Amino acid sequence: MIVLAADHGGYNLKEEVKKHLEKNGVEFIDIGTHSTDSVDYPDIAKAGCDKIINGECDKGLFFCGTGVGISIAANKVKGIRACCCSDHFSAKYTRLHNDANVLCMGGRVVGAGVACELVDLFLNTEFEGGRHANRVNKITELEK
Ligand code: RB5
Repeated sequence: MIVLAADHGGYNLKEEVKKHLEKNGVEFIDIGTHSTDSVDYPDIAKAGCDKIINGECDKGLFFCGTGVGISIAANKVKGIRACCCSDHFSAKYTRLHNDANVLCMGGRVVGAGVACELVDLFLNTEFEGGRHANRVNKITELEK
């Protein structure tokens, strides 16, 4: 299960990604926001991360104007590894090497076509483990 979360700057892109997921039969929970009215992205990040930390969802797709603010906020939550991406290579390798569990994108940065391709790469690429597992464990150590 995937959790979708966006502030007003990411709302339109979230809606485009939702259509893409629906078309492909990918199940998701949309925790909002549900309009372009202004909201604070740290609140949205927390609500999205809660769904992952409580086990309801295994990955998240988060959106704000740049993708940066919501990724900074999400990365403050223990157990979250959020990556702000606007290119295919990063979206793939953040799964292979970082075991990222949240992909963040900017509604004012990437178009819907690129975003949907990044989503597919992110959701369909498995963590490589091996030497990368040791490094991800060291990230977890930093949370203490
Ligand atoms: C909201 O205007 C904007 O600051 C927010 O969506 C995001 O881009 C922050 O990083």
